[in-house]
Formats: sequence, C-alpha cells, structure tokens
Amino acid sequence: MALLKAAQVVLGLTGSAAPRLVHAGPRDDGTLDCAAVLEDCRAAAACVHPDGVIAVAGTFSIDRPAVTEALLAHARENPRFVPFLLAPGMTYLCAPAHAERYLRHVLPHLPDVGTIRRRALLGTSVMVVAPGEMPSDGPYAGAARYIDVTMDEVHGYLDPGNAKLFLMLDFAQAGHGLTGDLAEIGVYRGRATILLAKLLRVAETLIAVDVFETYGQTPPFNLVAPFLHNCRRRGVPMERLRMAAVDTLRAPEKALQALGRGRVRFIHVDGGHKDETVRSDCRIAAEATHPDGIIAFDDMFSDMDPEVTPAVLAHFAADRRFAPLLVAPNKAYFCAPRMRMHYLRYLLPFLPGARSRAPMRLLDVDVPAARLDDEPSIEHLMALPSLSGPEAATLHARLQRLGAQSSQGA
Ligand SMILES: C[S@@+](CC[C@H](N)C(=O)[O-])C[C@H]1O[C@@H](n2cnc3c(N)ncnc32)[C@H](O)[C@@H]1O
Repeated sequence: MALLKAAQVVLGLTGSAAPRLVHAGPRDDGTLDCAAVLEDCRAAAACVHPDGVIAVAGTFSIDRPAVTEALLAHARENPRFVPFLLAPGMTYLCAPAHAERYLRHVLPHLPDVGTIRRRALLGTSVMVVAPGEMPSDGPYAGAARYIDVTMDEVHGYLDPGNAKLFLMLDFAQAGHGLTGDLAEIGVYRGRATILLAKLLRVAETLIAVDVFETYGQTPPFNLVAPFLHNCRRRGVPMERLRMAAVDTLRAPEKALQALGRGRVRFIHVDGGHKDETVRSDCRIAAEATHPDGIIAFDDMFSDMDPEVTPAVLAHFAADRRFAPLLVAPNKAYFCAPRMRMHYLRYLLPFLPGARSRAPMRLLDVDVPAARLDDEPSIEHLMALPSLSGPEAATLHARLQRLGAQSSQGA
C-alpha cells in the first residue's frame, strides 16, 4: 500500500480532491456476502480519482470465495478499473492505461522481482506477488531516504549522484563479504559523514578526520559544534563515531593512527584541495585502506580545484596498489586492480550511460565514466536486499535483472 502511495507521488498524482487509494472488501461486521462486497467495489469506483487505485481486501482466499466472486463481477461490469497487481489477500485495480506505470514504480521495491509472475486475469495482465516477496524495509532504506529526503538540509558538498554511488559500492562490498571501517578526510558539516554512518555494519567504526579547531580558527578550520549537531540530529550512532582532529598535511602519522592501517573499506577523501595536502591525503588513504577497499577522491577533474587531479594521478602512477575504478562528476573512485571487475559487475547494471559511453583512459586503465543522468533510482536503492559473502552470486543475478528493468523503464 505504501509503495503504491509512493508511486502515486512519483507519477504526480497528488493533492487531488478525489481519494487516490480506496479500500473495498469484507465489511467491518464480517459480512462476506458477494452483493455487499460488490456494492463496496462500486462505491469505491465512484469516488476514487480516475487515475487512482482500488484495493480489494480478502481476494483469492478459499475462506472467502464471495469476495473473489464480487471482485470478478465488478471488473466485468466496470472496465474503467482493471486488476493489475495481486498480493497476498489483496487485489489492486486501476485504469488500464496506468497499470504498467504503477507496476514500474512498485516492482523494484519487492525483494525478489525475478520470481514475480505475470498472469492473465479477465483478459488483462496482472502481476502476482507471493507472500515471501512482500516488501520489507531493506538494509539501504535509511541511507536511500537520507539521500532522497534530508541530505539537502545538511550543508555541504556531496551530491545525490555520488551519494548513490557510495551506497552501490557499499552493496558491492557486502557482496564480497568485506567488512572494515568507514572514513572521511574533510567532513565539514557532516553531509557525507552522515551517509557513511548509515552504511555502517556490525562492529564497524566511522572515522571522521578533519582539522576541526586544532589551530583555533586559523584556516583551515572546521567548527566542531555544527558537525556534532548534524550528526546527532540525523541519527549517527555517536558511540561508533571516532573524531580525529588532525591536520593531515602537518601530522599524517597522527591521521593514520586514527584510521588504522589496511582496515578502512571505504574512505572519502575531501580535505584540503592544495597539491601538498592532496598528496599527503593520498598517502594516508592508500595506507589506511583495506587491500580490497575503495578510495573516493573529491573534486577530480574539477577546474574549481585544479591541483587535485594531477596530485592524485601522480600518487597512483607510482603507487599501483590502487587503480582507477570509476570516474563520476567531481569524483574518482579507486580500488585494487584485481577488485575492478568485482565492483564493476555490481555497478554497471545500474549505470546504463557508463556502459554505453566510451571509457576514459586513465593511468593505463579503461575507466567507465558516469554522468549525472546515470544515477540509479532511489526505488532501486530501497529495494537492495541484505547480503553476505556467500549470497553474492544470487545477488549478482538479481542485480542484472534490476539493471535490465531500469534500462527498460528509462
Ligand atoms: C570541502 S569540505 C568537506 C565537505 C564534506 N566532505 C561534504 O561532502 O560536505 C573540506 C573539509 O576539509 C577540512 N580540511 C581542509 N584541510 C585540511 C587538513 N589539512 N587536514 C584536515 N582537514 C582539512 C576542512 O576543515 C573542511 O571541513
């Protein structure tokens, strides 16, 4: 039901005087008489918005055959509303012209879209969802909601497209069974830190490295209070947040002490943007990152901060532990060369543009280049299931299906 309401928002069906979703079915007094339920269906059809949905409860149950009888009678007499989705104990009807549109917005939320069956009912096509396939709040629902709804309220620089890539990369790491810590160098008001907090897995720590107020208010500095306020307000588990007040240029060893060596599975490097600082941050990130992990560099290929790109490329031309994985607007992602195919297998189904576009040649590697219009949709992110290492193969197949569906829907 919630999914259908969300779909209506996406489809622009809001703020109408007529109800957008109306229930029909067995009466509160338990009446299961076919005529009574049919009357309910008629009343629902009379008042619902023409583009809305009627939900008939109690259908296709051997305990209540009269409800199904009424549903079928109603569908025959009123072709303005056809069944399009059969969930356990509920049949949904809408105008024939909207059936596919609703399905396109609802199906990606279901945990295993690959096993949902398409069937014929009264000459129209319906999707049948089995009980085990009902949607649940997946492990990425909180992170996806943050990106979609509240991230904009936190001042900072992470954009939704890259935020979604952080999430996808986390998913790929889960598929690899990789655990470690998460980290950011240069946190400012916590916009990206909060997202990383939502990706923490059991026993992982989030390390926030920033100069903060180490030298008072002499630049670079970052006020601690608004950062902490935002983190608390947006649900960061404070007991798992380790703040390191370090100038990464002047005290790289101290930064490494806070981050640990080879432990961090994902680090977002977004501190100072001057050549020397970037080079120092590259060294720190390469030491701190797990051999299978990912380093995300901000402001790559940006003319606003032209010192970043040559500094990063110079570092990794010499340090071949990490190579370019993906270039996205304003960011470049690096991982170990042997991990590239693993990560790309997870990412590319969601990035049709990056698949079709010519790759970028960077440090002797052909690197897919994502663009803004490549973003995976929030619906897909919400639908991502939890997974652990051994489930990766199944999940990969599911991803392919979701990816295929995403490109068909586009
Ligand atoms: C661009 S902001 C970070 C934005 C943030 N990651 C976001 O997505 O909203 C840069 C941050 O880097 C910090 N910074 C700059 N130079 C630094 C240095 N040498 N050591 C540690 N932090 C530094 C600044 O204090 C500031 O908070």
